[in-house]
Amino acid sequence: MRNIQLKDDITLSELSLGCMNLPLDDRSETEKIIRFALESGITHFDTADLYQFGENEKVLGEVMQQFRSDYTFTIGTKAGNEFDAEKREKIGWNPSASHIKSAVKDSLGRLGMEAIDLYQLHGGTIEDNKDETISAFEDLKKEGVIRSYGISSIRLNVIDYYLKHSDISTLMMQFNPIDNRPLEVADNLNKEVKILSRGPVMKGLLSGNSRKVLENKFEDGVLEYSYEELQDTISRLEKINGDLTALSYAFLRHNDAVIVNGVSSLAQLESNVESYRSMPELSQQEYENILDAVKLIRYEEHRA
Ligand SMILES: NC(=O)c1ccc[n+]([C@@H]2O[C@H](COP(=O)([O-])OP(=O)(O)OC[C@H]3O[C@@H](n4cnc5c(N)ncnc54)[C@H](OP(=O)(O)O)[C@@H]3O)[C@@H](O)[C@H]2O)c1
Repeated sequence: MRNIQLKDDITLSELSLGCMNLPLDDRSETEKIIRFALESGITHFDTADLYQFGENEKVLGEVMQQFRSDYTFTIGTKAGNEFDAEKREKIGWNPSASHIKSAVKDSLGRLGMEAIDLYQLHGGTIEDNKDETISAFEDLKKEGVIRSYGISSIRLNVIDYYLKHSDISTLMMQFNPIDNRPLEVADNLNKEVKILSRGPVMKGLLSGNSRKVLENKFEDGVLEYSYEELQDTISRLEKINGDLTALSYAFLRHNDAVIVNGVSSLAQLESNVESYRSMPELSQQEYENILDAVKLIRYEEHRA
């Protein structure tokens, strides 16, 4: 497993585990997934306070506890949403310093950790008081409550502000050959900030199960693709590499991104790890063949 070094002296496994879709109700399967991840060299785990209204952090914290003595790993979580855990309802967006500072305590409690390795703002708009949010992250870093911070955003104006005015180490965006909108960001990113690519298999569309996923999850198409265009694009990508997950991972490696893949079963993780191990090193020509097979799309909103 390759590692990607962040500033702030944090190392993330190139293939990381997105925990949002873990089968929390099936504790045994969740434990098997996490054990297999660690055994495969995955050392970074991505969650958020909002996932299952705190339950995701809680289960992850409990499961990771049993592996603490045998493995070294990092956990990234996110804040900025207010929610009612009892009613299981999102209340609203709140990136204020007071909310971030109280949310981090709740996350630490649920995860059973003394410090968060990577704390991310879970979205945000250009209207937010961004300097206040940034100073909250900086305070938490100085106090040792978090080791590093980043944002999860697909708004170019927000990203631009954080790149210019904060010390973020990561930027999380949906990124894969089909949703290639982050390319313009990746091309201009300062080397100190790493992209965490969420959605690397596009909900399973870029997997061995693509035909079924296409039918079940993309009947109305996605982004600028109709259903038929997606079908055609999948066939073209398959001609480049029959293992679409390996193809997507290689595309992301070419862009120096951390691959944050979510799974809901052990079988999916096993398959993804196998694809990770067999991913090709792309030549520039092979990379361009992937770009030729897809539509190059861009973010239309939140540019200024
Ligand atoms: N705004 C944000 O910050 C944000 C938003 C979304 C996600 N995230 C993070 O990013 C992580 C990854 O994002 P994601 O879950 O949207 O995208 P993803 O990793 O591309 O998709 C995960 C889903 O794809 C399917 N899948 C995975 N491997 C598969 C395989 N080998 N074969 C067939 N299907 C497969 C599963 O769907 P089924 O469960 O339906 O089978 C799985 O739940 C999340 O877990 C979360 O940690 C962050």
